[in-house]
Amino acid sequence: MHFAPELLDALRQARVIAVFTGAGVSAESGVPTFRDAQTGLWARYRAEELATPAAFRRDPQTVWKWYEWRRDLMRNALPNPAHLAIASLEKTGAEVTVLTQNVDGLHRKAGSTDVVELHGNIWDDLCLECRAPGDGDAPRDGAGLPRCTHCGGLLRPGVVWFGESLPEQAWQRAAELAGKADVFFCIGTSSLVEPAASLPLQAHDSGKTVIQVNPEATRHDASASFVLRGKAGAAMPALLRAAWPGGPASSP
Ligand code: APR
Repeated sequence: MHFAPELLDALRQARVIAVFTGAGVSAESGVPTFRDAQTGLWARYRAEELATPAAFRRDPQTVWKWYEWRRDLMRNALPNPAHLAIASLEKTGAEVTVLTQNVDGLHRKAGSTDVVELHGNIWDDLCLECRAPGDGDAPRDGAGLPRCTHCGGLLRPGVVWFGESLPEQAWQRAAELAGKADVFFCIGTSSLVEPAASLPLQAHDSGKTVIQVNPEATRHDASASFVLRGKAGAAMPALLRAAWPGGPASSP
């Protein structure tokens, strides 16, 4: 893959780097994306039946069964070279923050130390009534559903569902970084789900360097400073090797 000298310079000089990611960054770890034609979850399941508060209230067993299935898929998933390359950006000495839409926890598993989870985390449970976090070993009721140990309320997966607001602090940090980061990566996202999908545009409008990594075109192609058309697992390690031939720790 060829990288423009301006791209490599911008990356080497960056003091603050934000890395906005979506399901595509975990695709090479065997975690299905949402919208890829055949393999995407939403090509096989109906989001409105599984990823909305109304769906959960209507049929919590079916929703829990689906999240347990996704947890099984993710339990054995390992970070891939894209996650590892993103984590190694921290060795450059720049301030690096990952802003992820992914709920799989793979960025932290790869060693990223500052990860903002915009859509929650699939390993967290949350009480529908008192909002207390579950402790992962919740008692089950007669229907086999996990119950809150504080109030007895129903526990739900700690992810953000359609129609719900993003965690406030997470969103504030993301919006702030879109205006502050010298370099704003946009990796493996179709950029179709708001408000997160507008972050790269906010960075662009703030005059920042936006680098999109995706094998497919997205709405950000037009505004991105650089577009790397390829899989993140190949593009990210190659980009870091080109920017820092001696390894990221060699940055002055
Ligand atoms: N490397 C980089 N990008 C990839 C790869 C890869 N190996 N494989 C697929 N992609 C790209 C696809 O081309 C697509 O643009 O990743 C994107 C995945 O898009 P979606 O499936 O729509 O996932 P995402 O953008 O993360 O969805 C956003 O929607 O369903 C909700 O809450 C869910 O967080 C999710 C949000």
